[in-house]
Amino acid sequence: MALNKMKDLKIGEMERITVDYVKGILLPTSTCEIWDQIWNFEAKPDDLLIATYPKAGTTWTQEIVDLMQNKGDVDKSRRAPIYERIPFIELVIPAIQCGLEQANEMPSPRTLKTHLPIELLPPSFLEKNCKIIYVARNAKDNMVSYYHFHRMNKGLPDPGTWNEFFEKFLAGKVCWGSWYDHVKGWWEAKDKHQILYLFYEDMKKDPKREIQKVAEFIGSNLHDEVLDKIVHHTTFDVMKQNPMTNYTLISTAVMDHSISPFMRKGAVGDWKNYFTVAQNERYDEDYKKNMANTSLTFHFQF
Ligand code: A3P
Repeated sequence: MALNKMKDLKIGEMERITVDYVKGILLPTSTCEIWDQIWNFEAKPDDLLIATYPKAGTTWTQEIVDLMQNKGDVDKSRRAPIYERIPFIELVIPAIQCGLEQANEMPSPRTLKTHLPIELLPPSFLEKNCKIIYVARNAKDNMVSYYHFHRMNKGLPDPGTWNEFFEKFLAGKVCWGSWYDHVKGWWEAKDKHQILYLFYEDMKKDPKREIQKVAEFIGSNLHDEVLDKIVHHTTFDVMKQNPMTNYTLISTAVMDHSISPFMRKGAVGDWKNYFTVAQNERYDEDYKKNMANTSLTFHFQF
């Protein structure tokens, strides 16, 4: 049974997941249980991987890539929900969905998704020199988005209050680990491998320019009108209305959009509505300390 066939589940029927550690990184227990299989995943040279820290703009990038691969044909991109078109390799919902199985059953060329930090990436992706698109989002908005996603999604632990979640995020004690380590690890790898490193804020500011970068990277030669069409169909407002991208086909027992919609605000700077002055000062201090040793600092806009 696939995720979107879980409509029969009723609110309250699904328990929140539990979590565990793999090499110091917190992950869903169901992922940890098959870690050896994930680690030994056989990537193929023509696989394209979309890698992100959770809530950095994964779905947006997935839809851009899928539309591009379908030459801007919107009907083709509406063939299935985004999580079926592009498997999430480390996702395991026992008896319902396994990203590895989905990926293994898929014909090539495959486009796959991961939230894994680079040190947990199955080595075959780099050994086979696969193309990888990494998207990073500024930490503060990323944190706010992740907080709301925890609230509405039983596939993540209970976030507690905003203040509690703030502390967990700062300590890197959230699923898929520390934001700092994630964005820095992938940044350091980008010049040694075929990695296109994008920023959510740049995508918001000039979507066409960023979409052109993706097209060039994956070798997609599209007319300007097609690019414009892709820009339009991947705006927040259009994707929010599209059931194939807005996650509303998943049972409300898993994702309850009445608590917080998956397509929530899609904005830069929403953190200002959540961070107290004291939290902001603390975060800035922590940020300075953790980002001191990387040129990446200068690329983030808050
Ligand atoms: P918010 O919670 O801040 O609204 P992911 O796909 O990695 O889970 O990221 C989800 C975040 O990206 C959510 O952020 C969501 O609204 C935002 N998002 C999704 N599609 C978008 C789009 N087309 N344009 C801008 N933001 C988008």
